[in-house]
Amino acid sequence: MKKVWIGTSWKMNKTSAAADAWASAVAPAVKACSESVQPFVIPSFPYIQQVSEQLNDKGVRIGSQNICWQDEGAYTGEVSPIQVKDCGATLVEIGHSERRAMFGETDERVNKKVLASLKHGLTPLVCVGDTHDEKRWGVSAESVIRQVKIALYEVPKEQVADVIIAYEPVWAIGEQGIPATSEEAERVHLAIRNALSAEFGSSISQKMVLLYGGSVNLDNASELLDQANIDGLFVGRTAWNADGYCHLLEIAQSKAN
Ligand code: 13P
Repeated sequence: MKKVWIGTSWKMNKTSAAADAWASAVAPAVKACSESVQPFVIPSFPYIQQVSEQLNDKGVRIGSQNICWQDEGAYTGEVSPIQVKDCGATLVEIGHSERRAMFGETDERVNKKVLASLKHGLTPLVCVGDTHDEKRWGVSAESVIRQVKIALYEVPKEQVADVIIAYEPVWAIGEQGIPATSEEAERVHLAIRNALSAEFGSSISQKMVLLYGGSVNLDNASELLDQANIDGLFVGRTAWNADGYCHLLEIAQSKAN
């Protein structure tokens, strides 16, 4: 059976003490998760190693919020896949809409980073999303599928199923976000699954993990997880608080039982 993935990116939040407090508080809950739930956490770069030392042996996957597509060299301010792996990361978040909107991340670069992650045995977690206008124009699925296809360009077929896709509508993320209804989210997830199936075959598409992110909270998590094509949740604000994250794990666990 496919695992239910429950994870959070801290974005640019927390210092060492707060990271330590969060990891200590969630440790018993992640340890108590059965094999059918896969917890993950994506701290800011400076705390990857610290969090990994605290949680890696408890079955939590640790990620980085970005990488450079190069292995090493004169790329001031960048962090390579080799370096994040060395700090304990096994996941790499790529193409979050905040990076696309504020830091010039392009689909082409997302693809380079996906290939670089796979080259180093890291799992790419690719974020894709439609804007409010795209939703209004009725082209959400087209926009998201385009991003997925470019992200997976030249990924060897045998590695496609190692890539995780997170559908995160831009209009749903953050303080101003309006959470997608479970129907809206499922509609786009199904469109992504069908596009993956058309491109790579049904067996690969069924294996792929598709996450939903954007204003997930303790009230909507259960219904989102009930959708056939939602394999897990990628959460911001609700999970920054350890209690919130532990509750989300409980909800996921109840689905997996
Ligand atoms: P929020 O859950 O705070 O809306 O953030 C979602 C997100 O961006 C996860 O990557």
